[in-house]
Amino acid sequence: MAESTAPARFTRRTFLGWWMAGLLTATVVTGLAPILVFLWPAPPKGQKKTPVTVALDKPLDQIAAGEAVKFDAPTTPNTAFIMANGGGDNAPGALAFGGFAVTDTDGKQHVFAINCSHLGCPIALNSTDKTFDCPCHGSRFHLDGTVLHGPATAPLSDLSWKQGPDSNTIVVDGIELGF
Ligand code: FES
Repeated sequence: MAESTAPARFTRRTFLGWWMAGLLTATVVTGLAPILVFLWPAPPKGQKKTPVTVALDKPLDQIAAGEAVKFDAPTTPNTAFIMANGGGDNAPGALAFGGFAVTDTDGKQHVFAINCSHLGCPIALNSTDKTFDCPCHGSRFHLDGTVLHGPATAPLSDLSWKQGPDSNTIVVDGIELGF
């Protein structure tokens, strides 16, 4: 007996099956896309990690015990520093636009992000008391970055750094912002 060579018919049931499958796929993709973008956001255009060279007002080895030197992130191009180990509002990887190079009262050198660990206001050096004070809600920090007075409960964040090519420069882990 000869086999039938007639093409399979594209029935209404087949059409409805494909239509439902397409609709379901489109619904799932539309629902998942925003979640995926939230979980793995694309880096802003032109943004890249880079070492940032900072010129301090005085060489590191001339910052006396109990003294600190403020510095800002360079703006040509626009840069920011990457916090290394902050607590509270200063999550590791968060950005800072300034910092302090400090020699604490025990003679140990630190480079901190300028952000208060409470809600991120820029701290200021209190050279009389030898503390970092936050003007926003009154938090105070010892020069080694630990909390002296709340509401902050976490220490200041270190910045990862190394000595620069000159005695008054340091090279800090940072990011070029691309705007
Ligand atoms: Fe510094 Fe609140 S932001 S105390």
